[in-house]
Amino acid sequence: MSSQIVDRFGRPHSYLRISLTDRCNLRCFYCMPEDGIELMEKPSIMTLEEIIGIAKSFNDLGVDTIRLTGGEPLIRKNFEYLIQELANLGVTLKLTTNGILLDRFLDLFDSIGLRKINISLDTLDKAKSVFITKRDYYDRIMNNIQSASDRNFHIKLNVVLIKGVNEAEINDFIALTKDQNIDIKFIEFMPFKGNKWDWSKGVSQEEIRSTVGQKFGEVLPLDNPKHSTSVNFKVAGHQGTFGIVSTITNPFCSDCNRIRLTADGKMKNCLFANSETDLLTSFRAGNDIRDLILNSIQSKKYSRDGMELKMDSDHYENNRSMTSIGG
Ligand code: 5AD
Ligand code: SF4
Repeated sequence: MSSQIVDRFGRPHSYLRISLTDRCNLRCFYCMPEDGIELMEKPSIMTLEEIIGIAKSFNDLGVDTIRLTGGEPLIRKNFEYLIQELANLGVTLKLTTNGILLDRFLDLFDSIGLRKINISLDTLDKAKSVFITKRDYYDRIMNNIQSASDRNFHIKLNVVLIKGVNEAEINDFIALTKDQNIDIKFIEFMPFKGNKWDWSKGVSQEEIRSTVGQKFGEVLPLDNPKHSTSVNFKVAGHQGTFGIVSTITNPFCSDCNRIRLTADGKMKNCLFANSETDLLTSFRAGNDIRDLILNSIQSKKYSRDGMELKMDSDHYENNRSMTSIGG
């Protein structure tokens, strides 16, 4: 059954991303503003029971897929309990993590049937990892990726490409797809509050494609599943695939089916949306929040919250920083 959460453009929304916390055990410079962020006060953050209750309202309206994000979702206390309860709703669960704590949860993921894991990994070079994340967890992350892959979890690596930082590693990531069923997702650098974005630091879809083609030869376009946010390819003969999230040079908003819920319980209809709907306050007052959800989706704009043609700093500097949106 298709979702009842339909916007003004006739798009049914069946996919919810829930940020479990705005805290993170890394400090990636493009995500966390340099002078830190004002962290959410504990009482304003959804409790686990509130997350489950709000998720249930979305599920009642037709949301069938939930991705857990952060900050870093695995640092949330009693994560095990939460994910079991969400699995009991019967939704497809997905996860985006930085991988630091992954080893603790692989048995659990096995038992609830969560087989696909997205891991944010911007470099295959240890020193560079320390530079990007401002923390020294590289070996741990790489070990965890290896053990998850050995256990046949389907691993997708999210790579945010930034000029002068990691664009020279594009083909090193592609090399990983040769003998392993690992998918690489290159993400164009996006602007959020305080992350000093400048598109001259970005690497475009075109540049990525031609870099891969020059080294590996034939690059086969793949079918892009409906609602996919990446254009997908495979190097001929490789096991894994690669995709490009071209939010800046070629936005893919036309059949967007995504809704976001921030850790403080605000519904966000777009990654770039400056207006939010406070679901948590109403939920805490004991109300049925389903009408609020159905009304909120009516304010969704067609593409990038109205920045259809270009990114506008007056707009995105009024958004949140990425760590408190959850990607
Ligand atoms: N531009 C593009 N992607 C970003 N992410 C975080 N900040 C940015 C940004 N400014 C990515 C993270 C993570 C995903 C949820 O979003 O690397 O993989
Ligand atoms: Fe943490 Fe992910 Fe942000 Fe890095 S990009 S600081 S891992 S939330």
